[in-house]
Amino acid sequence: MERAEVHFRNRAEKYNRSSNWVTDERLIRRIFELAGAGPDAHVLDVSTGTGLIAKEFYGKVKKVTGLDISPEMARYAEGCMDEIVFAPSEEMPFADGSFDAVVCRQGLQFADLDRAIPEIHRVLKPGGTAVLCHLTAYNDADRELTFAIQKLRNPARRNYLMPADISGRLRRQGFREVEDIEYVTDESVNQWIDNGAIPLENMDGIRALYRSANEEFRRLHNVRFTDGDILDAMLFVIARAVK
Ligand SMILES: C[S@@+](CC[C@H](N)C(=O)[O-])C[C@H]1O[C@@H](n2cnc3c(N)ncnc32)[C@H](O)[C@@H]1O
Repeated sequence: MERAEVHFRNRAEKYNRSSNWVTDERLIRRIFELAGAGPDAHVLDVSTGTGLIAKEFYGKVKKVTGLDISPEMARYAEGCMDEIVFAPSEEMPFADGSFDAVVCRQGLQFADLDRAIPEIHRVLKPGGTAVLCHLTAYNDADRELTFAIQKLRNPARRNYLMPADISGRLRRQGFREVEDIEYVTDESVNQWIDNGAIPLENMDGIRALYRSANEEFRRLHNVRFTDGDILDAMLFVIARAVK
C-alpha cells in the first residue's frame, strides 16, 4: 500500500481543484451547520489538508485547530485556521475533553479506525459534537466496483466504507444521537483523475472499470459518458453524533 504521506505530497499542489466536492460550498456549509459550533467553541478539523473545512469555521468560532500529517498539504492552508498540529488522527496530542466539536471530511479512509474513533471521542468535551464526512458505496449492488475504482484512484486508502460503517462505530464507541446524512455530488472523472497522484496505468484501469459497469451501478451512480468524460454521482455520508 502506498503511504498517505506520499500520495498527498504528490497531490497537494492540485488538491483544491482535484474534485468537484473539494470546493463544494453547499457541502462545506452543511458540515459547518451540523457541528453547531458557536462563537465560544474550540473546533478540531481532523485531516485538515489544505484547510477547506477549517476555513469555514475560522473567525466564526473562538479557535480552530487543524490536524494533519502532511506539511505539503498544509502549505496551502495558510489563513484557514488558528493553528495546525502535525500528528496522526490515531494519536492526537491533545488532552481529554479539549474540543466542542471535531469535524473531518475525507480523512478517515486513511486512518486506523480502531484507534482514530476512540481518539475523536477522547478529545471531545462531554456534549461535544462529531461530524465525520466521507465517500461511501451506495449499497451491496455497487460496492465491489465502487471499491475497485477507489483503490485505483487512491492506493493509500485503507478503509472502503459503506454508508453506516462510521455511524456504527460511533454508536459502539458510546456516542449518542447518532445520525447519517446523505449528500450526493456530481463528479467528473476527467477532473479527479488528473490530481497529480494517479499513475497512468491506473487511469486506464479506472476508465475501463466504468465502461464495464453493470446496469445497477450505472443507475445508482447516474453514470454518463459525455464529451470524452465520465460523470459519476458519488455518495457522501456525513455521520453526526454527540458525546
Ligand atoms: C482527501 S484529504 C482531505 C482534506 C480536507 N479534510 C478536505 O476535506 O479537503 C485527506 C487528508 O488526510 C490526511 N491524512 C492521511 N492520513 C492521515 C492520518 N493518519 N492522520 C491525519 N491525517 C491524515 C492527508 O495528509 C490529507 O491531507
